[in-house]
Amino acid sequence: MNVVMIGAGYVGLVSGACFSEFGANVVCVDLNQERIDALTAGQIPIYEPGLSSLVTRNREAGRLRFTTALAEAVTEADLVFIAVGTPTRRGDGHADLGYVYAAARDIAPHLRGYTVVVDKSTVPVGTAAQVRRIIAETNPGADFDVASNPEFLREGAAISDFLRPDRVVLGVESSRAESLLRELYRPLNLIEAPILVTDLESAELIKYAANAFLATKISFINEISQLCEAVGADVHAVARGMGLDGRIGKKFLHAGPGYGGSCFPKDTLALVRTAQEYGVSSRIVESVVEVNAAQKARMVQKVRHALDGSEAGKRIAVLGLTFKPETDDMRDAPALSILPPLVDKGAVIVAHDPQGMREAKALLPDSVEYADDIYTAIEGADAVVLLTEWNAYRGLDLPRVKASMRGDAFIDLRNVYEPKMMAEYGFRYTCVGR
Ligand code: NAI
Repeated sequence: MNVVMIGAGYVGLVSGACFSEFGANVVCVDLNQERIDALTAGQIPIYEPGLSSLVTRNREAGRLRFTTALAEAVTEADLVFIAVGTPTRRGDGHADLGYVYAAARDIAPHLRGYTVVVDKSTVPVGTAAQVRRIIAETNPGADFDVASNPEFLREGAAISDFLRPDRVVLGVESSRAESLLRELYRPLNLIEAPILVTDLESAELIKYAANAFLATKISFINEISQLCEAVGADVHAVARGMGLDGRIGKKFLHAGPGYGGSCFPKDTLALVRTAQEYGVSSRIVESVVEVNAAQKARMVQKVRHALDGSEAGKRIAVLGLTFKPETDDMRDAPALSILPPLVDKGAVIVAHDPQGMREAKALLPDSVEYADDIYTAIEGADAVVLLTEWNAYRGLDLPRVKASMRGDAFIDLRNVYEPKMMAEYGFRYTCVGR
């Protein structure tokens, strides 16, 4: 089976490599020449655990190639996946479908024989129908179906998520398209991964509803964490007590600095816009977005409070910049909302991140300094802010941290450490909801 993946970013590259692992012949196409050159030279342009060896193995087996030459790849394809970005559109907050529609226009003239064009990007309801219209208008003779196959992988665990998914969702409009997609995913039958086949619109909406629900859990526990602080309860205990109820589940009940990343912020906004378009209320998701913004602002206050009300001239060591561990992705990371207000008020920020510093440099204020080593970042700091729970920060040499700081404020926005223990080490310890 010949598969083309349009877009070789986090999703396109992982999906392409995993489909080749399933045995398909995969060509990943990207407009970005630099990215394709790097991939062709065996370099992986993103940080994702396990991706490098997976790509190498399948390239060597001749099942995985990278190119900018879309025409030639599409001509041979049985299935063409669109895995390009769908960022928030400037102005109205809806999903920007410019890249998806451009990809559809690029693909259309080169389709030969029956082909299924599959949206893997997260796209609002109605997008597959628009892709169908664009292709039919551009190439009236094309023999094709459109399908929707939203992706649920998590950065940092993307390969195992793709190879062992909780479910695969296939939105289809013909049994022929369904058969081809089922054939592609057939290796998953071995692990009995559920394959849910729906209409196009339901598949499109499942992805947004799932992300909005997960974001809701996060905003919910973040709001509860504020109540915990007010009444003297411990959000860890509250979350555990809730999560042991099988109907609730313990995942996504970790209080923290608010969600970020390449999906939840834009997908919650886009869902709200879709609801508005259809004249339907989306009050829960609107509140989730609001609570998340407030939580980030509250984190700034926490840092300020820990520094006795003023960050001016204070040296703050920031541990972790990416939106979560095990990725270099800085898109909508909480650091981008929390650090600039501190810099504006005169804080001197020295940041460390195991993988994200290159990306962060382009997005954070120029005055932020970067340290290659954790303890260099901490040297002479008035406060340490633990912002992303990388493993490297879970086992800090706390006596060394304390000894090398100028001050004693430790602000743990991921609740990695135990308050009692931190007090014993001599820190003035602040965390979230405990
Ligand atoms: P990305 O920005 O990492 O990758 C997109 C790639 O598409 C870029 O390399 C870009 O150069 C390329 N591209 C854009 N237009 C093109 C065209 N016409 N032809 C060829 N290449 C083109 O984006 P990412 O993170 O992979 O996201 C892609 C989609 O997947 C989005 O809709 C996102 O919401 C969704 N998604 C992302 C997840 C994630 O964790 N990053 C998880 C699940 C879904």
